[in-house]
Amino acid sequence: MMVLQSPAKLNLYLRIVGKRADGYHELVTLFERIDLCDEIRLKPLKDGSIRIRCSHPDVPCNSQNIAYQAAQLLKKGLNVPSGVEITIRKRIPVAAGLGGGSSNAATVLKGLNQLWKLKLNVPQLVDYARQIGSDVPFFLYDTSYALGTCRGDKITKVSLRAKLWHVLVVPRVKMLTKMVYGEVKAPLTEVKLSLTKKNDNVNILIHHLRNNDIKAVGATLCNDLEPAIFRLNPRLKDLKEKLKLFDIQGVAISGSGPSIFALTKTSSEALRIKKLLTQHFKQVFVVQTY
Ligand code: C5P
Repeated sequence: MMVLQSPAKLNLYLRIVGKRADGYHELVTLFERIDLCDEIRLKPLKDGSIRIRCSHPDVPCNSQNIAYQAAQLLKKGLNVPSGVEITIRKRIPVAAGLGGGSSNAATVLKGLNQLWKLKLNVPQLVDYARQIGSDVPFFLYDTSYALGTCRGDKITKVSLRAKLWHVLVVPRVKMLTKMVYGEVKAPLTEVKLSLTKKNDNVNILIHHLRNNDIKAVGATLCNDLEPAIFRLNPRLKDLKEKLKLFDIQGVAISGSGPSIFALTKTSSEALRIKKLLTQHFKQVFVVQTY
């Protein structure tokens, strides 16, 4: 039996650089790993089957679950005779823009690489991860911060010591990633040209993180999906405006939402804001870089 932590992510920066011929959007994003984690248990099964156990009502316990797909890809691709029972203890809100499902899939890839003694290296695991979803590769790298380009699936580690504090609010609304991207009005652009330009801004954010200049980090947070998200759910825009009234350094939506996070200078500020927000929202967390 193997017990693994499966952490969530925030996107501190997400710029859409263009739309590709295959329908995906070309991105520049800065991922931050946070200490909100699911727990995954892997138990070998001799009968060769793959089974998922999870008590969360919104998590499928069949081949629709991308953690299942991760195990199946390895099993089929490498003719593995063994099976596995994957038990997921969910703490990361589901379909919230926090990468919970993607993280679970990446954790299963890493765990089974050990359990099944596959000896795959990171680039080989990344090849499997990309087939599962754009956010999966990030979680294969042992890093708190990383830059994602292409579909968000081409990862460059960013080595930073900065430990950030956030108040994370997860409103109970469903935002389908596909629908949010469908709302984006990005032209088919000359990708390379704009990539260099937009990349400059993420370098500014990385510079502020390196200097631990939290105020400047807060002012540089961005998410190009926000206009689309706010069109689909105008109440999220109201929430963002409300959060700005607190003593925070910056606020943004993570990924395709609906999770919204504020950056604070200290843990005590984050806890104080959490206390106030808990009166209105069921899912409020204080999280830190992990
Ligand atoms: O890669 P993943 O399966 O997580 O993507 C879900 C959906 O989000 C895609 O079908 C696509 O519509 C959209 N998407 C996109 N551009 C990206 C990532 C996702 O358009 N870079």
